[in-house]
Amino acid sequence: MKTAIYPGSFDPVTLGHLDVIERASALFDRLIVVVMHNQTKKPMFTAEERAALLRRVTGHLPNVEIDCFDGLLAAYAAERGACTIVKGLRAVSDFEYEFQMALANRKLNPDVDTTFLMTSAEYMYLSSSVVKDIAAHGGSIRDFVSPEIETEILKRMRKED
Ligand code: PNS
Repeated sequence: MKTAIYPGSFDPVTLGHLDVIERASALFDRLIVVVMHNQTKKPMFTAEERAALLRRVTGHLPNVEIDCFDGLLAAYAAERGACTIVKGLRAVSDFEYEFQMALANRKLNPDVDTTFLMTSAEYMYLSSSVVKDIAAHGGSIRDFVSPEIETEILKRMRKED
């Protein structure tokens, strides 16, 4: 059984993430989407909240599991018996950072390689940060996230939660 891991901040999950999840879940027997800590970011949602949102939008994919982990990705991959880490690549600007992480992760865990999926063209510009910025300035995020995620972002922006 081939297990892949798709790590990220997912703060929150966008349609671009969902596109990668759907495509990766068709390539591997099991896909574990893991919410992790990125020390360069200050998240809007807690890790558990992000995982709950991911569960809501991936319910139609039976081989997808959602998890949270606060530690080294290479160690998590070993613990879960993953053969690969999946990452999405958007513009050339993603490349250097992702290349560095892929090499560091392979150094830390030589059994785990990284598989890159090129973004679908319509999500080339999309990121969680862009979504939050548009919402914070009153713009519509309807085309960028699932409806249930849109509601949660707007609630959080209004600090109703
Ligand atoms: O969605 P992001 O914020 O680009 O995801 C980055 C993430 C969470 C995958 C990365 O920061 C990460 O792997 N964090 C876990 C800690 C770790 O293993 N760091 C070393 C990476 S070489």
